[in-house]
Amino acid sequence: MHAWLCENPVGVDALTWKALPTPAPGPGEVLVEIAAASLNFPDLLIVQNKYQFKPPLPFVPGSEFAGIVRAVGPDVTQLQVGQPIACLTGTGGFATHTLAPAERCIPLPPGFDLTDAAAFIMTYATSHHALLDRGALRAGETVLVLGAAGGVGTAAIQIAKHAGARVIAAASSAAKCALAQRIGADATLDYSVHTASGSFRDELKRLTDGRGPDVIYDPVGGELAEPALRSIAWRGRYLVIGFAAGPIPSLPLNLPLLKGASIVGVFWGEFARREPQANAAMLRTLAQGYLQGHYRPVIDAVLPMTELPQAYARMAARQVMGKLVLRNDTH
Ligand SMILES: NC(=O)c1ccc[n+]([C@@H]2O[C@H](COP(=O)([O-])OP(=O)(O)OC[C@H]3O[C@@H](n4cnc5c(N)ncnc54)[C@H](OP(=O)(O)O)[C@@H]3O)[C@@H](O)[C@H]2O)c1
Repeated sequence: MHAWLCENPVGVDALTWKALPTPAPGPGEVLVEIAAASLNFPDLLIVQNKYQFKPPLPFVPGSEFAGIVRAVGPDVTQLQVGQPIACLTGTGGFATHTLAPAERCIPLPPGFDLTDAAAFIMTYATSHHALLDRGALRAGETVLVLGAAGGVGTAAIQIAKHAGARVIAAASSAAKCALAQRIGADATLDYSVHTASGSFRDELKRLTDGRGPDVIYDPVGGELAEPALRSIAWRGRYLVIGFAAGPIPSLPLNLPLLKGASIVGVFWGEFARREPQANAAMLRTLAQGYLQGHYRPVIDAVLPMTELPQAYARMAARQVMGKLVLRNDTH
């Protein structure tokens, strides 16, 4: 097998594509031949030692992948050799093969494409849990999605639209806004034009007839967080998803008081760990939504697994629209 190995977490340049012995699965494990893996923002942080989870060295990055089970550990009964699965393990995906805990592998129903499956769980589960569970989004409400052309952003647009909401998609370029509109956003706000210090709030007011958005989905943080929260509707919910811009914003507590609004934290991984049954039910709903055509991951590009450094560079430069997928050429 081959894998991108991180022996020193000082950034992407230190990763090496190495030949390694193919391991045999132990108890509770399966060996997966990886067809495709997708890039998520934490993959960028983990190789720089900036992510909250710091795996022991050396490790293979790649949090999310899909492939075929090639061998099962002695006590594994729920998965069979030859079964297509998707898996989110935190590490191991940027490789041709990996060992995965059987309990973390999700068998794929017939009709679930492996490239789509590799780009699905993290973003759709996060956005579904955020909007419908934590945000209690109702049909007819207006959602503002920041970073709307990114991985979780594109999933949030589709999920909010399917829930009957009106979506305002905000992103940093005209091309990103156009993509958001193509996948269902009702209105767009280009924050390279309407900046935090300029017309951002006026434009948001105009797009919501003065009411402000009921739900704000924020995976970006940074300087837009405060003006967005200032614009929220009465009884609004501000969903804290992440801080792709870098700085973690500090928000004045008088703002939620004045709007009777809530600032709501979202941590899908912890929800999945603490509430596994609720998470499993949500994943079943999402898979059905995929098979019925309501949810389709937006794939920016499919690159060979060997081009991982180029994929990382595009994500770091904010050039990705939707998801980047790395594929092994054996499939
Ligand atoms: N809470 C949870 O459970 C959970 C789960 C998954 C992901 N997340 C978090 O959600 C965030 C987005 O993840 P993702 O996988 O969707 O990432 P992504 O595809 O790279 O999207 C992030 C978006 O953030 C915007 N952005 C603004 N400043 C940026 C910068 N300096 N560098 C990179 N992007 C910047 C970009 O949009 P514009 O150019 O349009 O601004 C980009 O499209 C991350 O912080 C991640 O850790 C949280």
